[in-house]
Amino acid sequence: ELSSALTRAESLIRSIPDYPEPGILFRDITPLLADAEALRATTDAIIEPFAGQFDVIAGIEARGFLIAGAAAIAAGTGLIPIRKAGKLPRPAASVDYSLEYGTATIEMHDDLPAGSRVLLIDDVLATGGTLAAGRQLIERLGSHVAGISVLFEIEGLGGRDAIGDLHTVFHS
Ligand code: PRP
Repeated sequence: ELSSALTRAESLIRSIPDYPEPGILFRDITPLLADAEALRATTDAIIEPFAGQFDVIAGIEARGFLIAGAAAIAAGTGLIPIRKAGKLPRPAASVDYSLEYGTATIEMHDDLPAGSRVLLIDDVLATGGTLAAGRQLIERLGSHVAGISVLFEIEGLGGRDAIGDLHTVFHS
């Protein structure tokens, strides 16, 4: 059961119909981010099940950065950005994937000691394509995915099947 702070945080996720395309129900977390108590409670809930099990946090551009940065400070770890193609000066690996609306490529630097335990974080799980690609990237660089944690899971798009074991704070 959610704490009262998390229940309030959940109420601050705004659903926008037909954005960015007709037929897509967009989950807008910016009202949650704007609220100090909601941001704190959500950040804590994202890392809580993985306490002591990871050395570093990786977050996925762009909205995933907002959560991953806060989570890294809360956990006392460093932060690895997984970025869209062309944004990093020295990408060590890249993975193509399909999105609910379009396709994309993500890249990562190789700044981790081999065997690092990485907690992979994103804001929203939809089809799971993004997080599956993120996991592939981390593993390709010789690190270990200690866990995958997401703020909001959109159910019914196959994300949970695509990812397997993952932790989500809120779901549709
Ligand atoms: C959104 C969201 C997740 C991903 C989820 O990002 O932030 O990263 O889609 O979808 P999936 O589970 O179907 O892969 P988007 O690519 O829109 O980028 P943004 O964060 O830069 O807006």
